[in-house]
Amino acid sequence: MKNINLRIGLNYVLLRQNIIMNIIDTHTHLFVKEFDEDRNEVIERALASGIKKMIFPCITTSDIPILLELATKYPESCFPAVGLHPSDVKDDFNTEIEIIEENLKTGKFIAVGETGIDLYWDKTFIDIQKKSFEKQVLLAKKYNLPIIIHVREAFNEVFEIIDKHNDENLKGVFHSFTGDLEQAKKICGYGNFMIGINGIVTFKNSGLGKVVEEISINKLILETDSPYLSPAPKRGRRNESSHLVHIAQKIADIKNISIEELQDNTNKNSIKLFGNKLA
Ligand code: NI
Repeated sequence: MKNINLRIGLNYVLLRQNIIMNIIDTHTHLFVKEFDEDRNEVIERALASGIKKMIFPCITTSDIPILLELATKYPESCFPAVGLHPSDVKDDFNTEIEIIEENLKTGKFIAVGETGIDLYWDKTFIDIQKKSFEKQVLLAKKYNLPIIIHVREAFNEVFEIIDKHNDENLKGVFHSFTGDLEQAKKICGYGNFMIGINGIVTFKNSGLGKVVEEISINKLILETDSPYLSPAPKRGRRNESSHLVHIAQKIADIKNISIEELQDNTNKNSIKLFGNKLA
């Protein structure tokens, strides 16, 4: 009798976990070399943890073969984007942009990105970073896809380009958001843009929790940015998509809502932005 009760109890917990966990990691780089040894295990672990859908933003066009390979292997779960990361913009970026457009024509990509402007490490390439970003914004509009934007120490530069092109046909996400409340409000004002929150929100003294508290839940989507920025209590280790549950729990706590409610809202936002493939 005791054993039966124990088994019923366990099934109940598992059932509840299944109900609760069905979250979308909108930004994860499980295709990079950090996962070469155990990529399939990492993906399976994410799926088993209730991370049912993952978006893989491209860094350079050399990532395209592995992105397509993973999309073929996990057609219900892994969705690639194609773009050129701002830190990888070099003098030959126009060639990359051409390759990006050729690949957009195939219809196999869920978004353009990641792109944006990063002035943290290096300001040498600021002019071509801006040009590369602007061209990718125009491609996103042309192919009616969302744009995944990376901003580091460059909100003014990024806002200038979005201000120039924003209309009802432009949509996207400011991923790994670390700005202040004023910048968050500016993004919300664009209409079709979301704010991507990752493990930084779990870091003590990041200040991001205060901003998240103020942003409407209708504007938030979840991401890990694996293998970087692993959330507490996994901080300092290689990040992976299964860690998304810690980020979701932290945001639910900040918003003072249940994790189910957080999940329902952020899933709805992700589907609105990236389309029904995530449903
Ligand atoms: Ni990224």
